[in-house]
Amino acid sequence: MRISNRLRSIVPTWLSSLIRPLIKPLLNRLALPRILTEEMLRLNRSAATHYGVESEVHPNDFIYWYILNHSSFPSVEAAIGNYFENGSNSTKLFADIIASLGLEANRAVKLLEFASGYGCVSRHLKKNPLLDLVACDIHPEAVDFLAKQIGVEAVRSAHIPEEFSPPAKYDVVLALSFFSHMPKVSFGRWLRALFSSLNAPGYLIFTTHGLASHKIMGRPSLSKDGFWFNPSSEQKDLAVAEYGTTISTPDFVTAELIRQTGAPIVVYKHAYWWEHQDLWVVKREK
Ligand SMILES: C[S@@+](CC[C@H](N)C(=O)[O-])C[C@H]1O[C@@H](n2cnc3c(N)ncnc32)[C@H](O)[C@@H]1O
Repeated sequence: MRISNRLRSIVPTWLSSLIRPLIKPLLNRLALPRILTEEMLRLNRSAATHYGVESEVHPNDFIYWYILNHSSFPSVEAAIGNYFENGSNSTKLFADIIASLGLEANRAVKLLEFASGYGCVSRHLKKNPLLDLVACDIHPEAVDFLAKQIGVEAVRSAHIPEEFSPPAKYDVVLALSFFSHMPKVSFGRWLRALFSSLNAPGYLIFTTHGLASHKIMGRPSLSKDGFWFNPSSEQKDLAVAEYGTTISTPDFVTAELIRQTGAPIVVYKHAYWWEHQDLWVVKREK
């Protein structure tokens, strides 16, 4: 019997509906880790060799399981291939942006890869000698895994933006698919916190679920200021009020950027990442 069913049998319905949102992250955590089969490990090694990156995958890597369970892949091999290809593609897109900003001049770019997860992208970024990479995530197991298995310096993030205090300032902070999950209460505060972690000059590069994602998600009804939040996500051990699924229109993001940073938006590209997430680049000038 699943733990949630067991709970239902001993706790009245009204009480269980109050308790469930509070203990759901804990129940999900108990369900981890998942097991990677010998076949999956073999496929990981084969794909990793193709891209020249580390093959280790952490059993709690939600992005890996999200891709594996996605209906668009006809086989486990195709899904695992996509996990490694995805990280490689993101790294290429990122390198193009850095080059277009003229940042890679005469020293390695100090890069904070914020919300790195278990290294889907970090293992590829690590290979670029023009980058001095530090990864960062909220999951302590991810930070440990990145440092020990993937060989990337990694630091722990914070649940509350005002408590985020990285050990240095960076030329670039990259946050892929992080603002695509933030609730309204912390969206702008995280923009401010990440912007504050930049050197001047420095660039905050991030993606959001904008109007293309809105269409893919069935056009849910947005608030007047262009925001939608659903308390559910692929990160099964994070509280859904803190990390869910977000849509934010360009108007909303622009207003928040002006309010929180007052800094110029130097690049905006509709549906640029994964063919649906918007790309934003904001410059810290002073
Ligand atoms: C959708 S995943 C994206 C992972 C990675 N950027 C990529 O593109 O593969 C979002 C990540 O945000 C991380 N996250 C959630 N809350 C966070 C926080 N407060 N600080 C840093 N990372 C956080 C999650 O642990 C997860 O790894």
